[in-house]
Amino acid sequence: MIEISVKAGSANKQRDDAVVLPLLEGRKLTESGKDLAETTGKAISSFLRKFDNSGDFGVSHTLYDVERTYTQRVELAGVGDEKKLTLQKLRALSSKTARKLETSGARDISIYFPELNIRGATMADKVQAIAEGVWLGLYIFDKYQTKKKENKRALRSVTIMVPSRRDLDAAGAAVATAKAISSGTNLARDLGNEPGNVCTPEYLGDQAEALKHKKLKVTVMDKKAIEKAGFTALLAVNQGSAKEPRFIVLEYNNGKKGDAPVALVGKGLTFDAGGISIKPAAAMDEMKYDMCGSAAVLGIFKAATEMDLPVNLLGVIPSTENLLGGAAYKPGDIVTTYKGINIEVLNTDAEGRVILSDALAYAAEKKPAEIIDFATLTGACVIALGSQASGLMGTSDKMKRELKAAGDHTHDRVWELPMFEEYQEQIDSKIADIKNTGGREAGTITAACFLSRFVDDIPWAHLDIAGTAWNMKGTDISPMGGTGAGVRLVVEYLRRKVK
Ligand code: BES
Ligand code: MN
Ligand code: ZN
Repeated sequence: MIEISVKAGSANKQRDDAVVLPLLEGRKLTESGKDLAETTGKAISSFLRKFDNSGDFGVSHTLYDVERTYTQRVELAGVGDEKKLTLQKLRALSSKTARKLETSGARDISIYFPELNIRGATMADKVQAIAEGVWLGLYIFDKYQTKKKENKRALRSVTIMVPSRRDLDAAGAAVATAKAISSGTNLARDLGNEPGNVCTPEYLGDQAEALKHKKLKVTVMDKKAIEKAGFTALLAVNQGSAKEPRFIVLEYNNGKKGDAPVALVGKGLTFDAGGISIKPAAAMDEMKYDMCGSAAVLGIFKAATEMDLPVNLLGVIPSTENLLGGAAYKPGDIVTTYKGINIEVLNTDAEGRVILSDALAYAAEKKPAEIIDFATLTGACVIALGSQASGLMGTSDKMKRELKAAGDHTHDRVWELPMFEEYQEQIDSKIADIKNTGGREAGTITAACFLSRFVDDIPWAHLDIAGTAWNMKGTDISPMGGTGAGVRLVVEYLRRKVK
């Protein structure tokens, strides 16, 4: 990770390779920019007068060798209309700036973005967003590209310049928070991006174990232990795979002793071919991302540990592949779950809910204060919400309200779908207790209805991250591939509980 620090001081004194100043719509500068223009001869003011540099969002200009500065370049970064700025735009702006300067050979840069005004945002919010933009935006996954270009002048440090010394403490803490959140998010991205032949259930178990810490206990059950514990639904889906399943339990204890934990449950399907109800070939490779729910859970545990978050957490991850073969589970099979509920399997491709049934029932048995699950559960959710929001369902209005607020703040957004009682009928089975598909109508909701049968009366929220967990185009703050969706959302949700 590149180094990010905070500092106060004027732009003409900085010795970095680049000094980045915001350029507002209408060719206006902010305080530090005006100051710099006044103290450094005419380079900046004449540039602003002569050229077409409207200050549009995302458009930046580089001025080299500005007199009476100590920096190689002054970078004027267009931010558009200041009144329309948001924290997410600030993340995007920082990501763009870092990406551009990285390729231009600047190694150490200072950024004067905190003096931008954003309605409702504190100095800490802004500094955190800037640091996240840099760390998330510069993420790359290129370990399998043997001929990648080595950048000998890669970005090495970013100094976030705050308006006053009085801001330094809050800003420093915000950078530490951003660091933990970014490393959790980037872990989730890494796990998603690993191919299915590397990221197997066993590998997920090893990755979970690597997070062990004096406050974080990790238990990984192999197939034998899973059989003994009775996670029969997980075993049913695993039948078609040559690889062993894993059932991973994480216990993070850093809250009040005896306080019931928040349970985080994540779908860890390391490759989903659909099973006997096989998927079409097109884009099937993307089903290596079907473990992104579990990746989000591991990312949250990593972030919580790194930031020493004072909460108790219980993590539960069922992990297997969903493949085809002579031993695979079949349409028509009836699977008895850990909880004892019998499932009629009508489509082996609706496997996520099947393995989650055991994980949710296990979590509920531990009597947590609440349960949040993360799953790339339905194609229907991708159709409904695209890649802009995760589907939110559940039984607790309070949790849903707080998740929405955390989502808007982090831009790791959610949108609620209703769980009217009537939807439950769609999964009634004539020969077992429930069936594993509710038909084409309201597919995201009926999947959630299925899950709801396993959480008892524990307050529960379900996040369908099928559309948000990976992005084949990339976003402003994420390259193509895993996005780490759910990590920023739920870390913020948890932080708000203890603030
Ligand atoms: N992992 C898929 C859901 C998925 C599909 C996520 C496409 C992201 C993109 C899940 O296991 C699945 O196959 N669900 C089926 C359920 C159906 C058979 C009821 C689906 O959505 O088609
Ligand atoms: Mn499936
Ligand atoms: Zn799946």
